[in-house]
Amino acid sequence: MRLILLGAPGSGKGTQSQKLVERYAVPQISTGDLLRDARERGTPLGLKAQAAMDAGKLVEDAIVLGIIRERLAQPDTAQGFILDGFPRNQAQADALGAMLMEIGQPIDAVVLMQVDGDVLFRRLTGRRSCKECGRIFNIYTAPPGTAPHCDRCNDRPVLVQRPDDREEVIDNRLKVYAKQTQPLIEYYEKLGLLRRVDAEGGVDEVFARIERVLSAPNKHSRIS
Ligand code: AP5
Repeated sequence: MRLILLGAPGSGKGTQSQKLVERYAVPQISTGDLLRDARERGTPLGLKAQAAMDAGKLVEDAIVLGIIRERLAQPDTAQGFILDGFPRNQAQADALGAMLMEIGQPIDAVVLMQVDGDVLFRRLTGRRSCKECGRIFNIYTAPPGTAPHCDRCNDRPVLVQRPDDREEVIDNRLKVYAKQTQPLIEYYEKLGLLRRVDAEGGVDEVFARIERVLSAPNKHSRIS
């Protein structure tokens, strides 16, 4: 299974990717996670990406494409992958198409996660992660104390907020999404790959919709 999860910041791409990883046994490739990891390790690439990330802007295409090319060359992608947060503009989509054609691994579907602006804002301002175990919480919808049990932090999470989840940066991320990423909806629709999913509601509910839309025969299907 080779999937792209397309959607605004906070639409649940990361959350649903993790469930898809379990379901299809293919890796999640999140450009956001790869860039954050490079930044935390203080690599030249991570330091170069930092300013754009903190301002809620897109990191230069050359950096992101280099990361993706390297990641797709790893053997665990042979059976497929879930692209989370990539591509994010026309140039990235074109480059991805060319890369996948080269390795003979075309995309099966692009899942568009549709969530209303107010809900996105609440999800992002409420997101926290545990410094110790990395688990993602949400102070509104999934606060500490909810299952599963964590051996690493012993259910005592030290909560931190992503620097780009501050209100002023969220505004910018949503504007960047509207201007640069939203045009990809039409791009993938024209290629017959787009599947629209109502991504509001509980995590399991949204996952069930994604599964339904992926098994639906109609390429232009919409599940809500
Ligand atoms: P990235 O890390 O990709 O962030 P994003 O796209 O802004 O997406 P988020 O991670 O904020 O949201 P999500 O859709 O994954 O939602 P999540 O599941 O976490 O990118 C960060 C930055 O890196 C960019 O701004 C840019 O600078 C750079 N970058 C990355 N990729 C790039 C690229 N290709 N090109 C250039 N630059 C790039 O959920 C959010 C919250 O909601 C969580 O708290 C979660 O628990 C909660 N939640 C999720 N689903 C539900 C639900 N169904 N019900 C209730 N709560 C829910």
